[in-house]
Order: sequence, then structure tokens, then C-alpha cells
Amino acid sequence: MTYYQNIIETANYIIKYFGEPIDYAVVLGSGITLELEDQQELGYEAIPLFPGNKHANRVKGHANKLTFGKISGKNVLVLNGRLHYYEGYSMKDVAFMTYVVKHLGVKGLFITNACGAINTNFREGDIVCLDDFISLVSNNPLMGENEPRLGERFVDMTTPFDSYLVENLHKSAKKLDITLHTGVYGFFQGPYFETRAEIRAFKTMGCDLVGMSTVPEVIAANHASLPVAVLACATNMATGIQEKKHDHEHVLQTAQKISENLKKLLIETLQNLK
Ligand code: HPA
Repeated sequence: MTYYQNIIETANYIIKYFGEPIDYAVVLGSGITLELEDQQELGYEAIPLFPGNKHANRVKGHANKLTFGKISGKNVLVLNGRLHYYEGYSMKDVAFMTYVVKHLGVKGLFITNACGAINTNFREGDIVCLDDFISLVSNNPLMGENEPRLGERFVDMTTPFDSYLVENLHKSAKKLDITLHTGVYGFFQGPYFETRAEIRAFKTMGCDLVGMSTVPEVIAANHASLPVAVLACATNMATGIQEKKHDHEHVLQTAQKISENLKKLLIETLQNLK
């Protein structure tokens, strides 16, 4: 079966499993949690064509399941955990679920992640709504032959993030008195945390944040004309900006703390969306 056929089959499998139309989808990054009303679950291992089933050991902090339920009266599908390029998956594997989400017929996708803050106006624990990205990785899911049923060969990236979703996130943050910054995310391959010199270089390039995910999914969403917005959670200051050394446990703990505001933000935003 082709990549395209696998996507369509997986979308049909998920639609049949939950049996209801899905309004919005949310991807949760490391350590971030979100409970839904009337929640149903589907483990990734039970999805026959899920590319992650190729590797047994996945990253700690990811539950590796789909949850379906309601937030503010909307039907929401949550992807608890994602595939990363640094795990050894291909970019097409990393982007697979984004294309599946598109073929579920959702109106938009919210992506969350844990990342390091380079911009010193940001603090550990802050949430940043992306307005652009810099890929520091010389590969992406559109490389190779184009599948025209997924999208066009050459994709415009003038505005990678959907203005309707982004404006609503900012409106909700204001109403809830939650600080929501705007920033540029640098996509670093990992899985090591960047060096001090790399962070200095990325700062000069214009990165406010740095992380090891999200951009392949954002590129695929743009390819597929799927409206997307990203809430990046600064779980630490980037290397050399903070004095202490990095530690994945700390990333997970901070992400868990941020989850509370993230959830409030999504509840309020989904309430106001069409
Ligand atoms: N760098 C890259 N990825 C990350 C970081 C970081 O500092 N923190 C959480 N994910």
C-alpha cells in the first residue's frame, strides 16, 4: 500500500472507531496532558498502520494513545504523543498523523510542544504562540515525489500559522489573563540538547525558542491546507542562557505544570471557534 492509501485507511479506521465527526485535533508534547469530557481511548499500538509501531521503545512522557471526547461542546481528538525525527523515523512517518488528521475532516489542528527559550524576555513556564519557524534540519516531509492528493509540489510558507486560530488563542489568553507570547521556533534535530555555541548561532538567526519537534507536522499541515496553530511551552531556558544543565525529568515536570494553563486556553478558545 502507498503512503496515501495508508493515510486514508487510518483516517477511516479512526472515524469508524469513535463513530462521530471530529471538529478539532490537538497534539500533546512531552509531559503535557489534557483530559476530555466523555473520553474514549485508542492506543497507537491498536492502529494497524500507525508508523510508530515499527519501534518498541518510545520517548518517556508520551502516553501514545488517541483520546476522543468533548471540550466546550466540540468533538476533539487528542494525539497524546508524537513521533520524532530523532527517534529514527522518516520525516514522512513523523508527518503521517498530520495527514490523517486532515482526512478526518477537522477544522483545525493545535500542536503543543515542550521547548527551550532563547529569547530572554521569556521565562521557564511561559507559553508562546508561534508566528513563524526556522528549520535547522535539512530534511522535511515534502522531500521526494509529491503526492498531489495530499497537496501541491511547492508550498507557500508566508503565513505557516492560521490567523483565525492564532487570533482566537490570543483573545482567549487576554480574557483569562494568561501571558501568551509570540515567537519564532527553531527546529533542531536533537536528540542531544543544543550546545551553547549553537544557541548563540540560533539566537543570531532569529530563533526565540528551540525544540526537537513540531515543524515537520506544521509543514505537512500547510501542504495539506489544514489550519494549524502551535502553543510552544518553554520548559527551560536554552543551553547557556540557563546555568544549570538540562534534564528530561525537569522538562516533563515543567510541562505538567504548564498543562493547567494550556488546558484553560484550549477550553476558552474552542468555545469561541466556529
Ligand atoms: N532544546 C531542545 N528541545 C527541548 C528543550 C531544549 O532546550 N527543552 C525541551 N525540549
